[in-house]
Amino acid sequence: MMTVKRREFLRGAAAGSAALLAGRVSGLARPARAADSRVEVLVGEEIGTINPDIYGHFAEHLGGVVYDGIWVGENSKVPNTDGVRTALVEAMKRIKAPVVRWPGGCFADSYDWRDGTGPRERRPRRTNFWVDAPEWPAGAPADGPGRYEPNHFGINEFMRFCRLSGAEAYLAANLRGLGAQEFYEWIEYVNSPAGATTWADVRAAGPAGSRDPYKVRFWGVGNESWGCGGNFTPEEYAAEYRRFTAAVPRYGVDLKFIASGANVDDFNWTRGFFSKTAEKGNFLFNGIYGWGLHHYAWNLGLGKTNDWFAAKGDGLKFSDAEYYELLREGDRMESLINQHWTIMGQYDRQHRVKLVVDEWGAWYRKGSEVHPTHLLGQQSTMRDALLASLTLDTFHRHADKVAMANVAQLVNSLHALFLAHEDKFTLTPTYHVFEMFTPHMGARAVRALFSAPEVRYMRVDKPAEFWGLAGSASVNGKQLTLTVTNPHLGEAREAEVAVRGARIESARARVLAETDVHAHNTFANPRAVEPRDAQVKVGAGPLVYRFAPASVTRLSITLG
Ligand code: AHR
Repeated sequence: MMTVKRREFLRGAAAGSAALLAGRVSGLARPARAADSRVEVLVGEEIGTINPDIYGHFAEHLGGVVYDGIWVGENSKVPNTDGVRTALVEAMKRIKAPVVRWPGGCFADSYDWRDGTGPRERRPRRTNFWVDAPEWPAGAPADGPGRYEPNHFGINEFMRFCRLSGAEAYLAANLRGLGAQEFYEWIEYVNSPAGATTWADVRAAGPAGSRDPYKVRFWGVGNESWGCGGNFTPEEYAAEYRRFTAAVPRYGVDLKFIASGANVDDFNWTRGFFSKTAEKGNFLFNGIYGWGLHHYAWNLGLGKTNDWFAAKGDGLKFSDAEYYELLREGDRMESLINQHWTIMGQYDRQHRVKLVVDEWGAWYRKGSEVHPTHLLGQQSTMRDALLASLTLDTFHRHADKVAMANVAQLVNSLHALFLAHEDKFTLTPTYHVFEMFTPHMGARAVRALFSAPEVRYMRVDKPAEFWGLAGSASVNGKQLTLTVTNPHLGEAREAEVAVRGARIESARARVLAETDVHAHNTFANPRAVEPRDAQVKVGAGPLVYRFAPASVTRLSITLG
C-alpha cells in the first residue's frame, strides 16, 4: 500500500471543511470538524484493470461445501434447480461470481474425474481425502459424503452449477495420483467437439450432460504440490508441470494453465520453480497463465504459539487483540504479493506469468460450524467482512499483478459467503462486501493514498500497531469507486477525500458497520448484518466523510 507521512499529507487539506454528511451509519447531518485523516485519489495514476476474476470462488469436496451446500439433488425438498441449491445460484448471480475453482484443494489430488461421469447410480464410492482429518467436529457421523465420496456431483453437475450461477470453471487437476494422459483426457472430455470423441459422447449422455463442449479455459496443474499434492520439491514440480502441459489438445480454446504456487512466504518454492523453468527455456513462461499463492489468516497465537492447531481462534468468540491480529495476518497479503512478484520477475522478466491467489481467507478452529458434517465450517462475523475488504482492496492495488483470486471457500467452509443446511440458508457479512465491491470489477484501478492515525492495541503484554485506514480506488467512465476499511473498534475516522485530476460532482455511500464486531447472520436472523446506503453531501469545500468504527465503506463518486 502506498503510504505517506500523515503530517505531510494533511498539510494540503483545508481544515474545518464545510461538508456535511447524513445517513444511518455515518450519523445525521452535523457540522463537520477538522478531519483526522485523509484520502487522496490520483485518477491519472493507473495501476491496471481489475480483473473480475479477482472475485473468484473455491468449492472443494470437503465437509458441507458440495453436498448440502451446492448440491441437494433433483429430488430434494430444498428448492433447487436441477439439483443445485437455487438460493445459492441466485445470490451468486447478484455478485456476478466470475469463476469457481473445483474440485479442490487437497481433494483434487486424490480425485479421479472419471468417477463423476456416467449414470449416477453406477458411480463408485471413494474415500475422501479428508476422511481422517483431526478437524472433524464433535458429533460428526463416521460416514456420509464428507468421508466417502458418492460422486453424485461430478464434472457435468459442476458445469451445470457454473452455468446456473453465471461463473466460469477453473478445474484443478490431479497431479499426485493421475498422470499426464488422464489430464489430457479430462481436457478431451470437457472441451472436445460434440460427437468427435468417445469422451464427448459420454459427456453428452449425461446425466446433466452437454452435447456442446464446455470450453473451459482455466486448468490448475496440481494443488499445493509442495504438500498434500505430492510433497514435491519445486524443481521436481517444475518437471511435472512441464510434462503435464507439454502437449494437450486445445479445441480452439485459449487454455490458461495455473501452476501450483507457494504457501504463504515459501519464497524458495517460487524461486525453485521459476529458476528451473527458466533453465529449461524462457519460452516456457508463455505457457503459464498463473502462479498460485495460498495465504490463510489463521494465526491468532498472539506470539505465544505458532502451532497450526493451538494458535487458531474461535470464529465467534474473540478478544479485541484477536480481532486485530486476524486483520494483521490477512494484511500480510500485500507483502506476499510484492515479494513473490519480485522473484518471478527475476526469471520471467516480462512478467508474462501473473499471480493467482487461489486460496485465501480466515481459518478458525472447529466449534462454530452450523452443522457437524461441515468439516472446516465456521461462522463468519463482521471481523471476516473486514478481512475480505482489506484483502480485495489489496488485490486492486496490485491489479497489474493479480489475475485471479479465489476465496476459500464458497459455502459452509472457512471464509464462506454462504451458510446452508438442508432448507436453511443465509448470506454472511463477507457476501455483502463482495456485493458492495462489484463496481470495481473490470474497472481501472488508480492510485489512492491514505493517511490516518494508527490503531494501537495490546498483543499479550506488548503494544502493537495497525494502519488506521486503507482501501482502493477504481474508475469506470465518470464513476469513481472508493472502498475503505476502518479497522478501529471504537473510533470513527473523519477523513477528507480529495480527488486529484477530476472534480467530485456527487457521491453516495454504502456502509457495512455494526456496533458489535461479533455481529453475524444466522438461519434464525439472516439479516442481522446488512449494508446500508447513506447520503453524502457534496458542497463547495472538500468532501469530508466519517468512516464508522470497524466498518467497510464504498463511496460511489461521480466525477465532473
Ligand atoms: O481450503 C482447505 C484446504 O486448505 C485446501 O484443501 C488446501 O489446498 C489448503 O491447504
